[in-house]
Amino acid sequence: MAFFSKKKIKKNYGNKNATIISISAQKGGVGKTTFSTNFAVSQALKGKKVLIIDLDSQAHTQEALYYHFGENESEFSDYILNPKKDLMNSVYLSKIDNLYYIPADKDLSRTEKLLSSEIGKEFVLKKLLDVPKTHFDLIIIDTPPHFGTLTLNALVASKYVVIPTELSNLSTDGINDLLENMELVVDNYNNDIDILGIIINKVDYRSRKTNEPILTELKDRFSDYLIQPYIPMSSLFKKAQLEGKSIFHYNKNHKVSHLFEELSENLID
Ligand SMILES: Nc1ncnc2c1ncn2[C@@H]1O[C@H](COP(=O)(O)OP(=O)(O)O)[C@@H](O)[C@H]1O
Ligand SMILES: [Mg+2]
Repeated sequence: MAFFSKKKIKKNYGNKNATIISISAQKGGVGKTTFSTNFAVSQALKGKKVLIIDLDSQAHTQEALYYHFGENESEFSDYILNPKKDLMNSVYLSKIDNLYYIPADKDLSRTEKLLSSEIGKEFVLKKLLDVPKTHFDLIIIDTPPHFGTLTLNALVASKYVVIPTELSNLSTDGINDLLENMELVVDNYNNDIDILGIIINKVDYRSRKTNEPILTELKDRFSDYLIQPYIPMSSLFKKAQLEGKSIFHYNKNHKVSHLFEELSENLID
């Protein structure tokens, strides 16, 4: 009987124990993908073996780094709906040493709907990462802006969350919403999760007057989590993304590349 035949698929485990980090914010456009991609590259350049996973059906991660990634088809949805499969079969090495990725999957919205009626739906990604976790030092998950089943899966699977924000009221409201949802995750699914840092992105230094009250509020409420330096509004990101490159491959000597590098170092050794 199928029920009793707990057939084991042979999986190849490695001997690493990856730190899993979700990049999350309940607002679009704050820099989740920009941060995820450049952070992943910065860590790979330091010699860490990194896997970047895109849980957003808009597939922006692949777009942002297309110069470094091949044009592979994704079957990620298939794995999400069959979590006993070995996800390592869907992992590709990019043209950057140490940087691996799962190709983008534009079916993820549909997959999310299908998944949301399954029993144990919250633990699918955690299960899928069981094997990859043992092959990488770092797994970075770029999440969609809405708090749906996929973002929930990312948080359940993660040790840390990095929250990018802009200096706008809407973005700081987004932090509150995310923190409320994280509390639900801690209470119900994963009490190991912690905030690695809140990063402030797209700072327009010409708007000092409007920045200051928001910055003061953030400092009052989250001083333990705010990571320096803040990232300014800079055309470097769009220019690099247009060529499908990381900012370090586009212009490693740009002052914003240096700032980003410093930010990455302050987040994680
Ligand atoms: N510091 C920045 N300065 C200027 N533009 C930025 C900066 N960070 C991100 N962007 C741009 O803002 C847009 C949204 O960023 P993205 O990372 O896609 O946000 P999210 O993934 O949160 O939706 C992109 O076009 C990106 O190039
Ligand atoms: Mg994005």
